[in-house]
Amino acid sequence: MSTVLVTGGNGYIGSHTVISLFENGYDVVVVDNLSNSKMEVQNRLEKITGKRFKFYDIDCCDADKLRVVFEENKIDSVIHFAGLKAVGESVSIPLDYYSNNIGSMIAVCRLMTEFGVNNLVFSSSATVYGSSEDVPFTEESPLGTCTNPYGWTKWMIEQILRDYAKSEPSKRICLLRYFNPVGAHESGLIGEDPRGIPNNLFPYISKVAGGTLECLTVFGDDYNTPDGTCLRDYIHVVDLAEGHVKAIKFLEKTEDSVSVFNLGTGKGTSVIEAVKAFEKACGHEIKHVFGPRRPGDIAVCYASTKKAEEVLGFKARYGIDEMCSSCWKWQTMNPEGLKD
Ligand code: NAD
Ligand code: UD1
Repeated sequence: MSTVLVTGGNGYIGSHTVISLFENGYDVVVVDNLSNSKMEVQNRLEKITGKRFKFYDIDCCDADKLRVVFEENKIDSVIHFAGLKAVGESVSIPLDYYSNNIGSMIAVCRLMTEFGVNNLVFSSSATVYGSSEDVPFTEESPLGTCTNPYGWTKWMIEQILRDYAKSEPSKRICLLRYFNPVGAHESGLIGEDPRGIPNNLFPYISKVAGGTLECLTVFGDDYNTPDGTCLRDYIHVVDLAEGHVKAIKFLEKTEDSVSVFNLGTGKGTSVIEAVKAFEKACGHEIKHVFGPRRPGDIAVCYASTKKAEEVLGFKARYGIDEMCSSCWKWQTMNPEGLKD
């Protein structure tokens, strides 16, 4: 049985990916320092899969501690989710973002070299396309200028991994550029569990729908889009998780050292369409007002899904209605999120 080391596997996307890997016959080892997730996630994963995964509470920047994981397990592939991801916070504490995101990636690469592990999937983001609105973004679209340190960490890590792969021809690396992951597992047992007041649209809508927040502010209604609000490519987190399994399978057979794939649905949904879809899912109105544009937002962002479809055989199965209903189930079953 092939073993995948999932760093950040206790987080939102990582935990859903652990389930998909398990369902596809992989053995999974999780490393997470719990900086943005709660240990309860591991209990929930056990409830869903019937299996207790091997878990290490380790900071991936600490290569000496992380070495133990490579010594104790025969790792075949790594999926590196571990990282900090809040755009606004990255502007206030940029050094933490650069050292955590880049430091953890470098430590993982050094250990992959030391232990002869060749396959790596990295969580990148559509944010590397910058503020261009030449949609859909294809994997060949030029990389842009990022507007915040978080985005630059993804941009820089992509470059670091290209250089790393050049220096070690045995490496097989997949850069997955996620669009907007939303939704939750169908069980309602795991989902996105942000600390404090959410910045992203879906967690915010969920809390308004659930009554813990009063009202959603829609950032801008004067964009050049059909209803004036921004379009984004929301992708169900369970589809995204499936995309990682496809990427691991691809790495097991490819000859290419670095491969890049967008993971999205190829469809743009406006903020107002998202609100309407959520209202349908929860059965009541979601109070919202229109406010000014949020600095740094672009009007339109969606993926070309052609390459992921043709090369990985990946196609998202779920639409906005399933994204909203799963989010709502997670919200109603866990109104306060998970306990520490
Ligand atoms: P998340 O915060 O829920 O998960 C990340 C996990 O990594 C957390 O459990 C956190 O405790 C852990 N972690 C952070 N730094 C660590 C370190 N140094 N050592 C060990 N563990 C560490 O975030 P997510 O939404 O699941 O995102 C996963 C990855 O995907 C991140 O790299 C993120 O930047 C990237 N990504 C996310 C989105 C999104 O919208 N959620 C979009 C594009 C890319
Ligand atoms: C954000 C990040 C991006 C990251 C992505 C991951 C910013 C500027 N960008 O993208 O780097 O990769 O998350 O999912 O933070 N909106 C509202 N009201 C709200 C919240 C959001 O109207 O309270 C709107 C936004 O203006 C945007 C859309 O909803 O048009 C989606 O916003 P969000 O969920 O924050 O995602 P992105 O901005 O696309």
